[in-house]
Amino acid sequence: MQTVHTIEWMKQIAHEARAEERILGLVPTMGALHEGHFSLIRAAQREGAPVVVSLFVNPKQFGPAEDLNKYPRTLEADRAALEALGVDYLFAPSPQEMYPSGFRTAVVVEGLSDRLEGRSRPGHFRGVTTVVLKLFEIVQPRFAYFGRKDAQQARLIRQMSTDLNLDTNVVVCPIVREADGLALSSRNVYLKGEDRRSAAALSRSLAAVREEIAKGERDANRLLAALRRVLALEPRVALDYAEIVDNERLEPITNLRGTSYVLLAAKVGDTRLIDNALIEPDGEHFKVSV
Ligand code: PAF
Repeated sequence: MQTVHTIEWMKQIAHEARAEERILGLVPTMGALHEGHFSLIRAAQREGAPVVVSLFVNPKQFGPAEDLNKYPRTLEADRAALEALGVDYLFAPSPQEMYPSGFRTAVVVEGLSDRLEGRSRPGHFRGVTTVVLKLFEIVQPRFAYFGRKDAQQARLIRQMSTDLNLDTNVVVCPIVREADGLALSSRNVYLKGEDRRSAAALSRSLAAVREEIAKGERDANRLLAALRRVLALEPRVALDYAEIVDNERLEPITNLRGTSYVLLAAKVGDTRLIDNALIEPDGEHFKVSV
């Protein structure tokens, strides 16, 4: 595996790959890698293309009161894991490399950016889409892989890719969970003791929605009530939002129809977590993937 720190070198690699008609797959990450990231890498490898993993803790997607400074940084362990997985390139630029002084441009996906996570974390998605567009421009990947845990992020990036006629196909991969259902996240390292135990309630609340749907419930308010009943049993869990939204505009729906998501965010102790379930029509019924 080659570790690349400069944009110029990464662009050179991308240029040579294109000249030789080799397509690249990109897995963008902020490091502190876990099995969720590894599943994206394996999906990229199945495509048969050389895989670039970017590792950049993007300051522009953290609000002033958020955890940029304490965000887990485990570069050496990450590098070893990527080597073991047979990744071809690790692109790990510095903040100065990505945002030299005088940097002024931002990418905003209007409308989709200010709801849900965007309402709780103003400016977050502007930072995400700005860095992802830069990564796409630098690496020129044919495919880029994102986890469904960040469903709103994936929806925005897909929209950006469509709107800006990018050549990168956005691939969204399933959520990877711990044995008790907790969705894998680099931030899970913050969860200690009781918080870690309580955090499993998030996926249980989504499973409760799935059970209600299996029993025939289609009313979004009643489905969300079932979710809240589960979370209410956990005093360490403070719900930020829970909504059932359509797949296109991420607007709340009143009754299940088409493809939709149950999206939720909650604080468990001091740690903010997000999770979701995907609801897809399946003949007369709905298939719910937690
Ligand atoms: O999902 C993440 O880890 C980040 O938001 C991403 C896509 C790597 C952009 O910094």
